[in-house]
Amino acid sequence: MFGAAPDPAIWNMTDHQTADPHEIPDLTEAEAAEELRHLAETIAHHDRAYHQHDAPEITDAEYDALRRRNAAIEARFPDLIRSDSPTHRVGDTPETGFAKLRHRVPMLSLDNAFDTEEFAEFLARARRFLGWTEAMAVVGEPKIDGLSINLTYENGRFVHGATRGDGTEGEDVTANLRTMQALPLRLSGNAPAFIEIRGEVFMTKADFLALNEAQLAAEAKVFANPRNAAAGSLRQLDPRITAQRPLSLFAYAQGETSEPVAESHWVYLQRLRDWGFTVNPLSRRLETEEEAAAFQAGIAEQRATLPYDIDGVVYKIDDLGLERRLGFVGRAPRWAIAWKFPAEQATTILREIRIQVGRTGALTPVAELEPVNVGGVLVARSTLHNEDEIARKDVRIGDTVVLQRAGDVIPQIVSVIAERRPPDSVPYVYPDICPACGSHAVRPPGEVVRRCTGGLTCPAQRVERLIHFVSRAAFDIDGLGEKTIQEFYAEDWLHSPADLFRLPAREAEIATRDGWGKLSARNLSRAIEARRRIPLERLIFALGIRRIGESNAKLLARHYGNYAHWREQMLAASEIGSEERIGLGSIIGIGPAIAEELAEFFGEPRNVATLDELAAKLTVEDAAQPQATDSEIAGKVVVFTGTLETMTRPEAKARAETMGAKVTDSVSKKTDLVVVGTDAGSKARRAGELGVKTVTELEWRALAGFD
Ligand code: IVH
Repeated sequence: MFGAAPDPAIWNMTDHQTADPHEIPDLTEAEAAEELRHLAETIAHHDRAYHQHDAPEITDAEYDALRRRNAAIEARFPDLIRSDSPTHRVGDTPETGFAKLRHRVPMLSLDNAFDTEEFAEFLARARRFLGWTEAMAVVGEPKIDGLSINLTYENGRFVHGATRGDGTEGEDVTANLRTMQALPLRLSGNAPAFIEIRGEVFMTKADFLALNEAQLAAEAKVFANPRNAAAGSLRQLDPRITAQRPLSLFAYAQGETSEPVAESHWVYLQRLRDWGFTVNPLSRRLETEEEAAAFQAGIAEQRATLPYDIDGVVYKIDDLGLERRLGFVGRAPRWAIAWKFPAEQATTILREIRIQVGRTGALTPVAELEPVNVGGVLVARSTLHNEDEIARKDVRIGDTVVLQRAGDVIPQIVSVIAERRPPDSVPYVYPDICPACGSHAVRPPGEVVRRCTGGLTCPAQRVERLIHFVSRAAFDIDGLGEKTIQEFYAEDWLHSPADLFRLPAREAEIATRDGWGKLSARNLSRAIEARRRIPLERLIFALGIRRIGESNAKLLARHYGNYAHWREQMLAASEIGSEERIGLGSIIGIGPAIAEELAEFFGEPRNVATLDELAAKLTVEDAAQPQATDSEIAGKVVVFTGTLETMTRPEAKARAETMGAKVTDSVSKKTDLVVVGTDAGSKARRAGELGVKTVTELEWRALAGFD
């Protein structure tokens, strides 16, 4: 593997040190030109194989030899240096992959609806939230499964663009986006001084098939589906490769803007068109639920003949004033929903049941399948969930099974076709011994999951934890894939996370390993060193504590602020009944079950020692405080009482929480503010008695920035 992030200094050294013109005295000019052409093509091919597919076809040494040969010929025939010479390309290749760009407004996902009732419930929820009784039009837009991007324009010029990433921070793919025909570099007509425009980058079915054919001809890896092809093409380190890829773009949403651009989404779409974007021509403004349902049916009917793959329709409440009021809940907006098409099915043969051991010791059965296309995606594997599921469906090796893919969900085995069962088949026997370490695998009464009892002596668990530790949302270390971790683990180089930071000391040794070279080893060291600074939330997530996913890690980081405080509080919380434990369990979104997992982790001295050893090697960045802190009500305890005239209680409460306030039900000395609606009773009186500040609904609107 050679580096994703070639260091120009190293390249130059390699190229020139060995670029001895005397090595190639026999070449005629014509032969030299032909060979340079061939080398440019070959090196570009291997660059693609590496950067794009993470699947190099030659070793670092072989790759270096190609480049050296190229440099040597160029040194001997400087007049023949090509405009696409690999020697020159390195300079404009980003040094360390893509820079990160923080989105000013988070890029969230959408909730799903699967039928008319769920869609109706979405509208009813929005109405209830707003207390809205009038008509509420929506805009329907086919939902393309591509890659969402955020495009920033200043004074009408495209300045940068980023992928969605984790929703908060994406990858800066500006240079690649600039190569896309579909992206206006300047907005025509009147545009705000600052505007973020969001849309979907995708590949049409025809372009996808043609690209795969070309990839096949070039013996390069083919893409599994148009989405992967679009993502792979946009995330190229060399923009010239992106430029050759047929990427399309539909614009469909807005991020931050310096001035309002429209009062309705429908008008906003028109403005996007005026500025030079393509908006999906099938989009429609729909006045009623019935119209929306008819639209859904119409699009479903056209689905197969559309030039691109879609998996549903996105519906957005048209009135942008209402949209703003509706805001978000968790990771999804209250003002939009994705109404997905029913799942797609296919049948195939189950070849093998493999048992995976996860980082918490859970044994998970995985079905290895005869690869089959399910709704445009090639599927070769599927989860079988757990042993009960296998028994319930009586899934056996050799069976023909019905597979289903519903939206983004991993394919599932729905059923077995009994008539096609081989006559000699036997029921599957679930192992009670861990396949990785041979320890007993036990299933506590009442639980569905069987777990390996080997703990940290089980290599699968240790390796899985390390894989999780370096994964994208955790330490995100480029160049350390699953296989490498397994290899280094087997070598005894990697046992605990702290060992990772000892790898740079082995750089020379790593460089001599099979599949490695000086460059790739160097790049790995750099990737590791770069992560000595780590945001608190990533560190918490990386520990792989059960139930602590990305969003819980974020909540914890925000709540505790800095590493030292978090560690101290967690240690104290490991004691049942302690104040810290109760505090932990009452963080909104955490709750007692999660608190227990954390307490259990910190109650184990070995874990704390491992964490301390790791932390000693890191600079942990304090958590970003919610943006809301600069609002007047941030951190305040607020109580609403009486009937509000201009908004519903849930809306008022959500807005207060967005701005960092805590909303409680009863008035006490701890209350900072009571919002008094009409017919307020005892709470308003109690506020008066306690001397707690009260405001009217109108005053509250001003405070919360409604008007
Ligand atoms: S609006 C706050 N509109 O769907 C969410 N998204 O599941 C704003 N998508 O990440 C997204 N077509 O990649 C929106 N017309 C459309 C869309 C669309 C496809 C994708 C997008 C987003 C995902 C959410």
